[in-house]
Amino acid sequence: MRNNEGIYKVTNAIVYYSNTNQSKRIAQYFADNLHYPIWDIFEIPIHDFDNLVLVFPIHCQSLPDTVKEFLAQAKISNLTLIATYGRMCHGNALYEAQRLYPHNIVAAAYVPTRHSYLQDKEFDGFDALQPIAQKVLAPLPIKIPKSYKNPLSNLFKLKRSQLGIKIKRTEECDGCGLCSQICKHGGITDGVTNKQCIRCLKCVSSCPKGALKFSLSLPMKTYLKKKKQDKLVIYI
Ligand SMILES: Cc1cc2nc3c(=O)[nH]c(=O)nc-3n(C[C@H](O)[C@H](O)[C@H](O)COP(=O)(O)O)c2cc1C
Repeated sequence: MRNNEGIYKVTNAIVYYSNTNQSKRIAQYFADNLHYPIWDIFEIPIHDFDNLVLVFPIHCQSLPDTVKEFLAQAKISNLTLIATYGRMCHGNALYEAQRLYPHNIVAAAYVPTRHSYLQDKEFDGFDALQPIAQKVLAPLPIKIPKSYKNPLSNLFKLKRSQLGIKIKRTEECDGCGLCSQICKHGGITDGVTNKQCIRCLKCVSSCPKGALKFSLSLPMKTYLKKKKQDKLVIYI
């Protein structure tokens, strides 16, 4: 359905941005619970919502650019924000998102789950998310407080990721080109990454032949050993 400004409008939706499926799992939980349609952030043609649950990963203690761009162009009456993070540090991303929608956020959470670069356990405390689903159905605005963010986390984000993680095409690659198609950042062509690659690992986890492998630099391995946060934080 289109509104007066020609923007597609839906009443309710779950939208996810997910590269290694951690945020998608949480999004699916809300879709099953609330019976709202579920959409990939890159596929939804709609930008006007009554009730929206947006699920996404924390990248470098911040909102990923994809999420910022989506929020900047969407019209949302009641917004629920669910940020998954890899048990390192969630930073202040929800508070930052609140600046874009100061009066419309009805619930929010930081959900600790598997880090994209580690074989960690996935989030399994779904029962604890139930109060958020209830709040979506009875929306009242909340205020998200500031939380700790490392002041250096915004410095050279892309360069740090590119130096810390290498993605390699192996002999199993049969040149199917799927990696180039699924990368919405234009970061890989036929198994070879370029300067646009943000190291989200969507290509690695989606390759049907398992032909893309990644490796971590020593400083990145050392950083990832020091787990800092492991808390489910809910604002309702
Ligand atoms: C580029 C990048 C940066 C990340 N930065 C952080 C971070 O600062 N803190 C953290 O705890 N986890 C971080 N992670 C881990 C992800 O937030 C976490 O694994 C998330 O659940 C992945 O969700 P997805 O599978 O839906 O993409 C980062 C992951 C990537 C790919």
